[in-house]
Amino acid sequence: SKDGIKRPLVAVIDDGTKTVRFVIYEAERSEELVAHQLDKTIVEPQEGWYEQDPIEILHHINTCAEKALEDLVELGYSKEDIVSLGVTNQRETTIAWDKFTGEPLHPAILWNDNRTDSTVDAILAKVPDRNKNHLKSISGLPISPYFSALKMKWLKDNVKAVKTAAREKRLVYGTVDAWIVWNLTGGANNGLHITDVTNASRTLLMNIDTLSWDPMLLRLFGIHRDTLPAIRSSSEVYATVCNGAILDGIRISGILGNQQSALVGQNCLKSGQAKNTYRSGCFLLYNTGKTRVHSTHGLITTLAYKMGPEEPPVYALEGSIAVAGGAMKFLRDNLHLIKDVATDTEKIAGQVFSTGDVYFVPAFSGLYAPYWRKDARGIICGITAFTTKKHIIRAALEAVCFQTRDILEAMNRDCGVPLAKLHVDGKMTSNDLLMQLQADLTGIPVCSSLDSLCNFTVRARSWDMTALGVAVAAGNSVGVWSYEEWRHHATPNDVYLPTTTNDDRDARYTKWKMAVQRSLGWATA
Ligand code: G3P
Repeated sequence: SKDGIKRPLVAVIDDGTKTVRFVIYEAERSEELVAHQLDKTIVEPQEGWYEQDPIEILHHINTCAEKALEDLVELGYSKEDIVSLGVTNQRETTIAWDKFTGEPLHPAILWNDNRTDSTVDAILAKVPDRNKNHLKSISGLPISPYFSALKMKWLKDNVKAVKTAAREKRLVYGTVDAWIVWNLTGGANNGLHITDVTNASRTLLMNIDTLSWDPMLLRLFGIHRDTLPAIRSSSEVYATVCNGAILDGIRISGILGNQQSALVGQNCLKSGQAKNTYRSGCFLLYNTGKTRVHSTHGLITTLAYKMGPEEPPVYALEGSIAVAGGAMKFLRDNLHLIKDVATDTEKIAGQVFSTGDVYFVPAFSGLYAPYWRKDARGIICGITAFTTKKHIIRAALEAVCFQTRDILEAMNRDCGVPLAKLHVDGKMTSNDLLMQLQADLTGIPVCSSLDSLCNFTVRARSWDMTALGVAVAAGNSVGVWSYEEWRHHATPNDVYLPTTTNDDRDARYTKWKMAVQRSLGWATA
C-alpha cells in the first residue's frame, strides 16, 4: 500500500445486467485498489425478450480478474494477499444447465424479460380470484414475469433440452450467483450448487419466514427441489475456488444480490434507512431490520442480508422500477434525441425550466412497483405545438423521480413512518439536474427528530456501491472487515435540498398519476 504495509485484500465479482466488474479492496481502509470491467452482450430475439450467454459471463470474469490482478502486482501486492472473494449479481436472471456436462441448456433469461406473460396467466388461473398477491404472504412477492420461478417454468415447458434434462435428472437451475459459484468451484466436477438468501428471496420459491424452498410453491411452479441450489447465508466461507484458472485457491465468503449489496455498501444497515440505486432500472430498498413488513401498497418484501449462518435475517421492503436510465437509452437509440446519455440529458433538459406539462411514463416492461401491471404500455402525454425535445428529455428525467415518489408513497403507508432522507447511488446520480429534480419532486416530509438531517436527499460520492457491499460481507466472514464497525462508518455526502412547496409537488404528482392511469388503461381500453 502507499505506506509500504501490506494489508489483507478482498476481491469482488460484480455481474450486473450490462457489465461484469472485478474489484479489489483493501479491507482495513475500505479502499478500492483496482477494478476492471467489460460490457456484456444482451440479445433481444423477440420484442421484450432479453437473453445473455452464461459462458460469456464466465469468460468476462476471468478476463477482468486477470487484468485486475496485473494492476494489483504493479501496486506491490500479489494474488496471495487476497483473503476472500465476494459475488454480487443481477437478481432474478435465470440459468438452466446440465450438471454432468456443465453446458447451459438455454441462454440466461434476464430479469426484465417479458416472455413469461402467459406463464403468469397460467399460474393466476390456479389461484383464488386470479389474485396476483396470493403468494405474497409466503414469498413476499407478487406473481409477475420479473421473478425466477416463472422463467424456470417457462424453460421447462418450452425448451426441449430443459425438458429432457429434467427427465434424465441432469437439470439444475440457478440465479447468476449460483452459476458463478458452481463454475468457480469445479462445475461438472463436483461444483458447489448454492445461492444466498437474498438471491433466493427473488425466485418466488423461497418461504420468506423459514428461508427454505417452499413445498407448495415448488408444486405450483412444477420445480423439483433437487434442481435448485442450497440456500446459505450472505456471509460465510462456502468453498475455495478450484476451476484451474486465475482465482484458484481464494475462498468464496460472501454472496449478495446486487441491490442488497448496494444497501450494505451505502451503509443502510439500520432499520428505517433506505437507498435508491439509479441504473437502467431503479431499486429502492428500505431496511426494516429483523421485522418482515408485509406490504399492502404494492412493495415487495425481500431479504436484505443475513450476515452469517447463525446471524438473524434482516429484511427490506423494496420498490423495483424496471425502467429508469433505460428511458434515456430509448431517447438516444430509438428517438435519436440525444447522443450521450451521461452529458446530454442534463445539458438539454436544463435549457427549459419545466416540461411544459409533458409527462412520460416509460412502461416498457409493463410497470413494476407499486402497480405490478404487465400490460401497461409507455406513453408521452401533454404534448402541444410548443413541445420540443428539451421538454421530452426533461420529462424522462422526471419520470425517474416520479416513479421513485410512487415507491416512497407506498413505503410511507406501509411503514407508517415517513423516510427522513434518501441515500442514492448508481451512475445516473452524477446528473445534478436529476438529483435536484428528485429532491424537488419527492420532498421528503419534515420529521420531528432531534437532528437537522431531515428533509433532504443525500448522494453518495462514489457512484457504485454495489461491489462494496458484498466486499464487506466477504471480509466479515474471514475476520478482515467488520460488519459491526461498518454499521457505524460514516460516508460523506452531497446534499440536495428540495426547493419546492408541498402544494407544487403534490399538483405535479397528481398529474403524473393521471399519466400513469392512461398508461395502465392502454392495453385494456
Ligand atoms: O433486480 C434486477 C437488478 O438486480 C438489476 O440490477 O443494476 O444490474 O441493472 P442492474
